[in-house]
Amino acid sequence: MEIIKTVGQLKERVATQRVAGRTVGLVPTMGALHDGHMSLVERARRENDFVVVSIFVNPTQFNNAADLATYPRTEDADCNRLSRAGVDVAFIPGVEDMYPEPDNRQFDLGEVAAVMEGPMRPGHFNGVAQVVSKLFMFAQPTRAYFGEKDFQQIAVIRRMVETEGFDIEIVDCPIKRADDGLALSSRNVRLTAAQRAVAPMIHKIMAESVANATGKSVSQVRKEVVDSINAVPEMKVEYYEIVHPLTMQPVDDWSDGPVGCITVYCGDVRLIDNIKYTQQA
Ligand code: PAF
Repeated sequence: MEIIKTVGQLKERVATQRVAGRTVGLVPTMGALHDGHMSLVERARRENDFVVVSIFVNPTQFNNAADLATYPRTEDADCNRLSRAGVDVAFIPGVEDMYPEPDNRQFDLGEVAAVMEGPMRPGHFNGVAQVVSKLFMFAQPTRAYFGEKDFQQIAVIRRMVETEGFDIEIVDCPIKRADDGLALSSRNVRLTAAQRAVAPMIHKIMAESVANATGKSVSQVRKEVVDSINAVPEMKVEYYEIVHPLTMQPVDDWSDGPVGCITVYCGDVRLIDNIKYTQQA
């Protein structure tokens, strides 16, 4: 595996592949790789001739300086995993490579960015659009892979692809969970042992709410989930919204197969998860 640190080198390396008619799969990450990331990498490996994985902790998408400062960084271990997975290029730029000038672009992300993470993390999605659009320009991928744990982020990226006119297939990949149900996340390492022990309750309660939703209203199910999770020690729900799977707008009936999107503070660690509600009677 080649480790590339500069934009110029990446562009050259990828251009050779595209000229030769080879497909390029891109997996954008912020490092601290876990099995969830690796499932994206494995899929990209299966579906493309050439695979680029970027590792870049993007400062413009953090609206909280402490979160940026404490974001886990495990570059050597990440590179070992990527190399073993048969990745062709790990692209690991510095902030000065990605942002030689301040990026003042404001993206029109529409209604999908106006709810949930949008108001909770002002500027976050614009920062994601800034970095992902740059990665798309530099890596020129045929396909790009994103995890469904960040369900709203995928909708925002699809919107950005549409408005910016990128000819790139966005591939969404299912959430990977630990055996006890906790969605894998780079932030899980920051949980104390006591918090880690209760964190799987998030998925357990959401899964039970899907199983028991028949005959109940959306607002009743939503309230039950919030109350049950708030009753767990150390847990505080920031929001739980049951939304249309494409528009991200809250729904008031089950007809479109909505998705429940949650963020929960477990101590001071902000955990995110979601679940699909299949058609309810
Ligand atoms: O999901 C992430 O890890 C990040 O938001 C992404 C897509 C790599 C952009 O920095």
